[in-house]
Amino acid sequence: EKGGYEHFMLKEIFEQPKSIHDTMRGRLIVEEGVIKMAGIWDHIERFKNANRIIIIACGTSWHAGLIGEYLIEEYARIPVEVEYASEFRYRNPIITDKDVVIAISQSGETADTMAALKLAKERGAFIYGICNVVDSSIARITDAGSYTHAGPEIGVASTKAFTAQLTILSLIALKLGKHNGNLGNAEFMSLIAELDAIPKKIEEVLSSTHELVQNIAKDFITTTNFLYLGRGYNYPAALEGALKLKEISYIHAEGYPAAEMKHGPIALIDENMPIVIIAPRKGHYDKIVSNVQEIKARKGKIIAVVNKGDTQVSEMSDYVIEIPQTSECFSPIVASVPLQLLAYYIAVYRGANVDQPRNLAKSVTVE
Ligand code: F6R
Repeated sequence: EKGGYEHFMLKEIFEQPKSIHDTMRGRLIVEEGVIKMAGIWDHIERFKNANRIIIIACGTSWHAGLIGEYLIEEYARIPVEVEYASEFRYRNPIITDKDVVIAISQSGETADTMAALKLAKERGAFIYGICNVVDSSIARITDAGSYTHAGPEIGVASTKAFTAQLTILSLIALKLGKHNGNLGNAEFMSLIAELDAIPKKIEEVLSSTHELVQNIAKDFITTTNFLYLGRGYNYPAALEGALKLKEISYIHAEGYPAAEMKHGPIALIDENMPIVIIAPRKGHYDKIVSNVQEIKARKGKIIAVVNKGDTQVSEMSDYVIEIPQTSECFSPIVASVPLQLLAYYIAVYRGANVDQPRNLAKSVTVE
């Protein structure tokens, strides 16, 4: 059932071209220039008149939510807040019937997310679900929603569910932006064509980086700390990369917005500190170049995820992982794949049980 792969996690990483395609199927119709999502369309007035959108989730799904915030604010121009379900539910949050809440949950069973939704519902918010497991508890209490069609995710560390969540959030942002006139037709058309090309680009990344990342992993088997840095859309991708490593390899890792480095974490950098830096060409590249210079000056070991043909960041880096270029807003989908592989191989070489890491459960049904 692992389809010839050693672990479910690796199988699920490799399934991503298909799972993303499945998530877009029937929704993204590039030839007609439309995004069809009944759950959004049937409630378009709720979204249009929303004071704000509150995204509620935990863990990896919360990271997807952060990227959703960037997407929805950029393209639909609706204010978005992203909340950890556990913090939201215990702080008497301000919620009104003008709010739209989007819940993101792979399992659809996360206790804190469920409780936060009940609270929001009681106070009159409209609840939209992004779940992977069909007919799960969260899917059932929402007013509407879109399933990620990633297929069953067995590995405890979320991989394909995450990229499917990003796909749904992209579709929602572009659909709302097109509908409310913030996203012009030409830009909409070019973005949907880019999104449609993502499965192919992930296929490319899987084949071009698999062996390379495996070799990089060998150099970090005894490492005890990692930093992950990114800016803009790739800041949450850095958080997610760090979480993947922590969960399955038990190496301490932290994700940071690259610009925050000088406000503290830079003190940690020396020749023993590896820093994974996500630096695609589109998206604050020049700023990232100066961050890399700062790290280099302190002898940090740099593992850079860059676009094909990159020179500036690559020349300063100890390890270079090239990914194809895409729109800035979709770059976390592509950049996440080599980071999943990196966490996977470091964990495998450390002899860890990657599919069932210690202390973790696939769905967290306790608070
Ligand atoms: C990370 C991971 C957890 C989950 C979190 C939320 O790899 O698996 O952080 O993302 O427990 O779970 P769901 O999405 O099922 O609500």
